[in-house]
Amino acid sequence: MTSLVITPLGYAAGARVTGLDLRNPLTQEQVAAVQAAWHKHLILVFPGQDLTAPQLITFTGQMGEVERNDNVPYYRDPDYPEVLLVSNKPRNGKPSETRNTGRNWHADLTYTDRPAKGSVLMCKEKPVIGGDTMFANMYMAYDTLSPVLRDFIETLDAVHDITLIKGFERRDPAQIAEMKRANPPIAHPVVRTHPETGRKLLFVSERIRNFVGMTEEESQPLLQFLNSHATSPEFVYRHQWALNDIVMWDNRCTLHIALKDFDQNQARHMMRCSMRGEKSGYVIAPEKEDGASLKSALASVS
Ligand code: SIN
Repeated sequence: MTSLVITPLGYAAGARVTGLDLRNPLTQEQVAAVQAAWHKHLILVFPGQDLTAPQLITFTGQMGEVERNDNVPYYRDPDYPEVLLVSNKPRNGKPSETRNTGRNWHADLTYTDRPAKGSVLMCKEKPVIGGDTMFANMYMAYDTLSPVLRDFIETLDAVHDITLIKGFERRDPAQIAEMKRANPPIAHPVVRTHPETGRKLLFVSERIRNFVGMTEEESQPLLQFLNSHATSPEFVYRHQWALNDIVMWDNRCTLHIALKDFDQNQARHMMRCSMRGEKSGYVIAPEKEDGASLKSALASVS
Protein backbone atom coordinates (compact mmCIF):
# COMPACT_ATOMS: atom_id res chain seq x y z
CA MET A 1 0.00 0.00 0.00
CA THR A 2 1.35 3.47 -0.90
CA SER A 3 1.81 5.66 2.11
CA LEU A 4 0.26 9.05 2.53
CA VAL A 5 2.56 11.98 1.68
CA ILE A 6 1.80 15.60 2.58
CA THR A 7 3.75 18.28 0.72
CA PRO A 8 3.25 21.96 1.61
CA LEU A 9 2.35 24.13 -1.39
CA GLY A 10 2.27 27.65 0.01
CA TYR A 11 3.43 29.76 2.94
CA ALA A 12 -0.08 30.92 3.80
CA ALA A 13 -1.89 27.65 3.22
CA GLY A 14 -2.16 24.61 1.00
CA ALA A 15 -0.66 21.14 0.89
CA ARG A 16 -0.73 18.32 -1.65
CA VAL A 17 -1.85 14.92 -0.39
CA THR A 18 -0.78 11.83 -2.32
CA GLY A 19 -0.82 8.14 -1.52
CA LEU A 20 -4.61 7.88 -1.13
CA ASP A 21 -7.23 6.52 -3.51
CA LEU A 22 -10.37 8.45 -2.64
CA ARG A 23 -12.55 6.06 -4.65
CA ASN A 24 -12.34 3.79 -1.61
CA PRO A 25 -13.45 4.76 1.90
CA LEU A 26 -10.50 5.80 4.07
CA THR A 27 -9.42 3.96 7.19
CA GLN A 28 -9.84 5.71 10.56
CA GLU A 29 -6.08 6.34 10.62
CA GLN A 30 -6.18 7.91 7.17
CA VAL A 31 -9.14 10.12 8.14
CA ALA A 32 -7.26 11.27 11.24
CA ALA A 33 -4.09 12.00 9.21
CA VAL A 34 -6.04 13.96 6.57
CA GLN A 35 -7.85 15.98 9.23
CA ALA A 36 -4.62 16.78 11.06
CA ALA A 37 -3.09 17.98 7.78
CA TRP A 38 -6.25 19.98 7.03
CA HIS A 39 -6.07 21.80 10.36
CA LYS A 40 -2.41 22.61 9.72
CA HIS A 41 -2.60 23.62 6.02
CA LEU A 42 -6.32 24.64 5.73
CA ILE A 43 -6.47 23.68 2.04
CA LEU A 44 -5.64 20.18 0.84
CA VAL A 45 -5.11 19.25 -2.81
CA PHE A 46 -5.64 15.62 -3.82
CA PRO A 47 -4.40 15.25 -7.40
CA GLY A 48 -5.58 12.62 -9.89
CA GLN A 49 -8.82 11.61 -8.14
CA ASP A 50 -11.42 10.75 -10.77
CA LEU A 51 -14.45 10.25 -8.51
CA THR A 52 -18.10 9.63 -9.30
CA ALA A 53 -20.71 11.75 -7.50
CA PRO A 54 -21.42 9.01 -4.90
CA GLN A 55 -17.68 8.59 -4.25
CA LEU A 56 -17.32 12.35 -3.77
CA ILE A 57 -20.21 12.29 -1.29
CA THR A 58 -18.69 9.34 0.58
CA PHE A 59 -15.34 11.08 0.88
CA THR A 60 -16.97 14.32 2.06
CA GLY A 61 -19.04 12.32 4.55
CA GLN A 62 -15.84 10.99 6.10
CA MET A 63 -14.77 14.57 6.81
CA GLY A 64 -18.10 15.85 8.17
CA GLU A 65 -21.87 15.79 7.83
CA VAL A 66 -22.76 16.26 4.14
CA GLU A 67 -24.71 19.43 3.27
CA ARG A 68 -27.79 19.00 1.03
CA ASN A 69 -27.66 22.54 -0.37
CA ASP A 70 -31.33 23.14 0.51
CA ASN A 71 -30.74 26.88 1.00
CA VAL A 72 -29.69 27.20 -2.64
CA PRO A 73 -31.54 24.31 -4.31
CA TYR A 74 -30.35 25.04 -7.86
CA TYR A 75 -27.73 23.44 -10.02
CA ARG A 76 -27.51 20.36 -7.90
CA ASP A 77 -26.75 17.07 -9.60
CA PRO A 78 -30.25 15.77 -10.52
CA ASP A 79 -29.55 12.42 -8.84
CA TYR A 80 -27.38 13.65 -5.96
CA PRO A 81 -28.63 16.88 -4.33
CA GLU A 82 -25.51 16.94 -2.16
CA VAL A 83 -23.46 17.75 -5.27
CA LEU A 84 -23.57 21.31 -6.54
CA LEU A 85 -22.48 21.79 -10.15
CA VAL A 86 -20.29 24.87 -10.52
CA SER A 87 -20.17 25.02 -14.28
CA ASN A 88 -20.18 27.38 -17.23
CA LYS A 89 -21.66 24.73 -19.51
CA PRO A 90 -25.14 25.63 -20.79
CA ARG A 91 -27.98 23.63 -19.33
CA ASN A 92 -31.26 22.92 -21.16
CA GLY A 93 -30.13 25.35 -23.85
CA LYS A 94 -29.71 28.19 -21.33
CA PRO A 95 -26.55 29.77 -19.88
CA SER A 96 -25.58 28.10 -16.62
CA GLU A 97 -26.72 29.96 -13.49
CA THR A 98 -23.47 28.96 -11.76
CA ARG A 99 -21.13 30.13 -14.51
CA ASN A 100 -20.01 33.03 -12.30
CA THR A 101 -20.25 31.34 -8.90
CA GLY A 102 -17.72 32.52 -6.37
CA ARG A 103 -16.51 35.68 -8.09
CA ASN A 104 -16.06 37.66 -4.88
CA TRP A 105 -14.15 36.77 -1.71
CA HIS A 106 -16.39 34.65 0.48
CA ALA A 107 -16.79 31.57 2.61
CA ASP A 108 -19.55 29.15 1.59
CA LEU A 109 -23.06 29.56 2.99
CA THR A 110 -22.34 32.41 5.40
CA TYR A 111 -25.72 33.86 4.37
CA THR A 112 -27.32 30.93 6.24
CA ASP A 113 -27.44 30.04 9.92
CA ARG A 114 -25.05 27.16 9.15
CA PRO A 115 -22.00 28.40 7.26
CA ALA A 116 -20.29 25.35 5.80
CA LYS A 117 -17.60 23.60 7.84
CA GLY A 118 -15.67 22.83 4.68
CA SER A 119 -16.07 22.19 0.98
CA VAL A 120 -14.66 19.65 -1.44
CA LEU A 121 -14.37 20.74 -5.07
CA MET A 122 -13.46 18.39 -7.93
CA CYS A 123 -12.35 19.58 -11.36
CA LYS A 124 -13.99 17.62 -14.19
CA GLU A 125 -13.34 20.00 -17.11
CA LYS A 126 -11.01 22.96 -17.25
CA PRO A 127 -9.93 25.68 -19.61
CA VAL A 128 -6.49 25.37 -21.20
CA ILE A 129 -5.21 28.29 -19.13
CA GLY A 130 -6.63 29.77 -15.94
CA GLY A 131 -9.88 29.14 -14.08
CA ASP A 132 -7.84 29.38 -10.87
CA THR A 133 -9.22 29.62 -7.33
CA MET A 134 -7.54 31.71 -4.62
CA PHE A 135 -7.80 31.02 -0.90
CA ALA A 136 -6.92 33.34 1.99
CA ASN A 137 -5.89 32.36 5.52
CA MET A 138 -8.14 34.04 8.10
CA TYR A 139 -5.95 33.10 11.09
CA MET A 140 -3.14 35.13 9.56
CA ALA A 141 -5.57 37.94 8.80
CA TYR A 142 -6.62 38.09 12.46
CA ASP A 143 -3.17 37.60 13.97
CA THR A 144 -1.67 40.49 11.99
CA LEU A 145 -4.18 43.14 13.08
CA SER A 146 -3.14 45.55 15.80
CA PRO A 147 -4.32 44.61 19.29
CA VAL A 148 -6.60 47.67 19.63
CA LEU A 149 -8.42 46.87 16.39
CA ARG A 150 -8.65 43.20 17.37
CA ASP A 151 -10.33 44.21 20.64
CA PHE A 152 -12.76 46.52 18.81
CA ILE A 153 -13.87 44.07 16.12
CA GLU A 154 -14.36 41.40 18.75
CA THR A 155 -17.43 43.40 19.81
CA LEU A 156 -18.94 43.38 16.31
CA ASP A 157 -21.38 41.17 14.45
CA ALA A 158 -21.65 41.49 10.67
CA VAL A 159 -24.74 41.17 8.46
CA HIS A 160 -24.17 38.58 5.70
CA ASP A 161 -26.49 39.09 2.75
CA ILE A 162 -27.12 36.60 -0.08
CA THR A 163 -27.88 39.43 -2.49
CA LEU A 164 -24.20 40.42 -2.30
CA ILE A 165 -23.17 37.27 -4.16
CA LYS A 166 -21.54 38.75 -7.25
CA GLY A 167 -23.92 38.57 -10.22
CA PHE A 168 -26.87 37.60 -7.97
CA GLU A 169 -29.18 40.08 -9.68
CA ARG A 170 -28.51 38.46 -13.06
CA ARG A 171 -30.00 35.14 -11.96
CA ASP A 172 -33.47 33.96 -12.89
CA PRO A 173 -36.03 36.23 -11.10
CA ALA A 174 -37.97 33.30 -9.62
CA GLN A 175 -34.73 31.87 -8.19
CA ILE A 176 -33.76 35.26 -6.78
CA ALA A 177 -37.10 35.56 -4.99
CA GLU A 178 -36.84 32.06 -3.55
CA MET A 179 -33.23 32.45 -2.47
CA LYS A 180 -34.02 35.74 -0.71
CA ARG A 181 -37.02 34.20 1.02
CA ALA A 182 -34.99 31.20 2.21
CA ASN A 183 -31.98 33.30 3.27
CA PRO A 184 -32.86 36.53 5.08
CA PRO A 185 -29.87 38.69 6.14
CA ILE A 186 -28.08 36.98 9.01
CA ALA A 187 -25.54 38.23 11.55
CA HIS A 188 -22.37 36.36 12.54
CA PRO A 189 -19.51 37.49 14.82
CA VAL A 190 -16.58 39.20 13.09
CA VAL A 191 -14.10 37.29 15.23
CA ARG A 192 -14.65 33.58 15.73
CA THR A 193 -12.78 30.79 17.45
CA HIS A 194 -12.20 27.69 15.35
CA PRO A 195 -14.01 24.83 17.12
CA GLU A 196 -11.22 22.34 16.45
CA THR A 197 -7.96 24.29 16.57
CA GLY A 198 -9.08 26.81 19.22
CA ARG A 199 -7.46 29.62 17.19
CA LYS A 200 -9.11 33.00 16.65
CA LEU A 201 -9.84 34.10 13.09
CA LEU A 202 -11.28 37.00 11.15
CA PHE A 203 -14.74 36.14 9.78
CA VAL A 204 -15.42 38.76 7.13
CA SER A 205 -16.10 38.59 3.39
CA GLU A 206 -17.35 40.61 0.44
CA ARG A 207 -20.89 39.40 1.16
CA ILE A 208 -21.34 41.58 4.26
CA ARG A 209 -23.55 44.66 4.09
CA ASN A 210 -22.86 46.33 7.44
CA PHE A 211 -22.02 45.71 11.07
CA VAL A 212 -24.94 45.24 13.41
CA GLY A 213 -25.93 48.57 14.98
CA MET A 214 -23.96 50.57 12.40
CA THR A 215 -25.11 52.10 9.12
CA GLU A 216 -23.67 50.95 5.82
CA GLU A 217 -21.83 54.27 5.54
CA GLU A 218 -20.23 53.73 8.93
CA SER A 219 -19.48 50.08 8.26
CA GLN A 220 -18.06 50.17 4.74
CA PRO A 221 -14.67 51.84 5.37
CA LEU A 222 -13.80 49.36 8.13
CA LEU A 223 -15.22 46.46 6.16
CA GLN A 224 -13.24 47.40 3.08
CA PHE A 225 -10.08 47.65 5.15
CA LEU A 226 -10.69 44.25 6.77
CA ASN A 227 -11.45 42.55 3.43
CA SER A 228 -8.44 44.06 1.75
CA HIS A 229 -6.18 43.18 4.70
CA ALA A 230 -7.61 39.62 4.86
CA THR A 231 -6.85 38.97 1.20
CA SER A 232 -3.32 40.42 1.20
CA PRO A 233 -1.13 38.42 -1.20
CA GLU A 234 0.95 37.12 1.74
CA PHE A 235 -2.12 35.35 3.15
CA VAL A 236 -3.18 33.78 -0.15
CA TYR A 237 -2.68 30.40 -1.82
CA ARG A 238 -3.61 30.35 -5.52
CA HIS A 239 -4.64 27.01 -6.94
CA GLN A 240 -4.08 26.25 -10.63
CA TRP A 241 -6.36 23.35 -11.37
CA ALA A 242 -5.44 20.12 -13.11
CA LEU A 243 -8.10 17.71 -14.31
CA ASN A 244 -9.35 15.47 -11.47
CA ASP A 245 -7.84 17.59 -8.76
CA ILE A 246 -9.89 17.59 -5.59
CA VAL A 247 -9.41 20.56 -3.29
CA MET A 248 -10.81 20.49 0.23
CA TRP A 249 -10.84 23.77 2.15
CA ASP A 250 -11.68 24.60 5.73
CA ASN A 251 -14.48 27.09 5.20
CA ARG A 252 -14.32 28.32 8.81
CA CYS A 253 -10.85 29.82 8.58
CA THR A 254 -10.42 30.66 4.88
CA LEU A 255 -12.00 32.81 2.20
CA HIS A 256 -11.94 31.92 -1.47
CA ILE A 257 -12.64 33.46 -4.85
CA ALA A 258 -13.11 31.83 -8.27
CA LEU A 259 -11.25 33.91 -10.84
CA LYS A 260 -12.59 34.81 -14.27
CA ASP A 261 -9.06 34.49 -15.62
CA PHE A 262 -9.87 32.29 -18.60
CA ASP A 263 -11.45 32.12 -22.04
CA GLN A 264 -15.19 31.96 -21.32
CA ASN A 265 -15.75 29.88 -24.48
CA GLN A 266 -13.89 27.01 -22.85
CA ALA A 267 -15.64 24.69 -20.40
CA ARG A 268 -14.97 24.80 -16.66
CA HIS A 269 -16.99 22.16 -14.84
CA MET A 270 -16.62 21.46 -11.14
CA MET A 271 -18.52 19.31 -8.65
CA ARG A 272 -18.78 20.61 -5.10
CA CYS A 273 -19.82 18.91 -1.89
CA SER A 274 -19.89 20.77 1.40
CA MET A 275 -19.87 19.74 5.04
CA ARG A 276 -22.57 21.20 7.26
CA GLY A 277 -21.33 23.67 9.81
CA GLU A 278 -22.53 24.37 13.32
CA LYS A 279 -25.67 26.44 13.77
CA SER A 280 -24.77 30.07 14.39
CA GLY A 281 -25.94 33.61 13.79
CA TYR A 282 -29.25 35.40 14.09
CA VAL A 283 -31.66 36.73 11.52
CA ILE A 284 -31.93 40.48 11.06
CA ALA A 285 -35.50 41.75 10.57
CA PRO A 286 -35.40 43.07 6.98
CA GLU A 287 -37.78 46.01 7.49
CA LYS A 288 -35.49 47.42 10.18
CA GLU A 289 -32.21 47.24 8.29
CA ASP A 290 -31.68 50.95 8.51
CA GLY A 291 -28.75 51.96 10.63
CA ALA A 292 -29.52 53.28 14.08
CA SER A 293 -32.69 51.29 14.57
CA LEU A 294 -30.93 48.11 13.54
CA LYS A 295 -29.80 47.01 16.98
CA SER A 296 -33.32 46.93 18.35
CA ALA A 297 -34.38 44.87 15.34
CA LEU A 298 -32.46 41.73 16.14
CA ALA A 299 -34.39 38.54 16.49
CA SER A 300 -32.51 35.48 17.69
CA VAL A 301 -33.17 32.32 15.72
CA SER A 302 -31.74 29.98 18.27
C1 SIN B 1 -17.06 28.21 -4.97
O1 SIN B 1 -17.04 29.40 -4.70
O2 SIN B 1 -17.48 27.39 -4.18
C2 SIN B 1 -16.52 27.74 -6.31
C3 SIN B 1 -15.06 27.95 -6.43
C4 SIN B 1 -14.56 27.65 -7.79
O3 SIN B 1 -15.33 27.33 -8.69
O4 SIN B 1 -13.34 27.74 -7.99
